[in-house]
Amino acid sequence: MNLYQGIKRRRSIRKYANEELSLTRLDELEKELESVRKFDSEVSVGARLIRDGRALQEDISGIIADYGKVEAPHYLVLTSEDTEDGYVELGYRYEFVVLALAAQGIGTCWIGKGFSDEQLDRYVQLPPGQKCVTLIALGPLPDGEELDEIGDPKRKEIGHFLVNGDPGNLNEATREIIDCLRRAPSALNGQPWRVIVEEGTVHLYLRARNKVTKMVLKSLNQLNRVDAGIGLCHLEVGGNHFQEAVETRKVTHPERRGLSYIGSLTDRD
Ligand SMILES: Cc1cc2nc3c(=O)[nH]c(=O)nc-3n(C[C@H](O)[C@H](O)[C@H](O)COP(=O)(O)O)c2cc1C
Repeated sequence: MNLYQGIKRRRSIRKYANEELSLTRLDELEKELESVRKFDSEVSVGARLIRDGRALQEDISGIIADYGKVEAPHYLVLTSEDTEDGYVELGYRYEFVVLALAAQGIGTCWIGKGFSDEQLDRYVQLPPGQKCVTLIALGPLPDGEELDEIGDPKRKEIGHFLVNGDPGNLNEATREIIDCLRRAPSALNGQPWRVIVEEGTVHLYLRARNKVTKMVLKSLNQLNRVDAGIGLCHLEVGGNHFQEAVETRKVTHPERRGLSYIGSLTDRD
């Protein structure tokens, strides 16, 4: 199964089987973390696998459980430099891992952080200059559950994401690619992505928050940047499935008030 099928089947898993992934699988995952795809290789982000997730869970007094009602056998602790580009990069790089796990029938759930970096001290050493931004819970699905293709995801209609134009004017491939985008996970299912389609290029934007909201909701603002990176990963996977010779990168793009540019799916140079 490929990453595109991962997009169609992935959903957040909050209850896991009472068993762990095999040691071999965990070793492979650690190797995969070393060679994840990068959008901007200059930005510092990282991931550490916590193999004994249940111990972490107990040790931090169920904060994770209270915060997101998730109990998983393993976690990835995702860290980033404290910049907006860092958060986007973190979402982009590790959503590829989430999709690869979904394609193998392994459950995941992104978790907005609900505890301090100090509480992680016993489990991971955070890279200097980086802080923990989110976790990804992961593990085998409960008995009898599978990740089946989702026909009608709980998402806004395709037209909602288009800044200009009518979804009826899009060609079939572009519609399918935007469908891949809207299926992405996002904090509180906020789906903060917007797109402008211009001669075959899909420009991705994040609905910007005003300065006051940004200050008051600092952590939600960070998570929305993570959402943006996750969306960019979905655009790229969708683009590679439905078109040939495309890639995501920053290009000349239209500016719109209230929208913050993230990157574009466009022809390879
Ligand atoms: C950055 C980010 C943070 C999230 N934080 C949490 C969380 O703390 N607890 C939780 O249960 N789900 C969390 N989620 C999962 C979203 O609620 C979920 O992706 C969304 O509701 C869509 O559902 P789906 O993933 O099943 O498609 C988070 C997702 C993202 C991308």
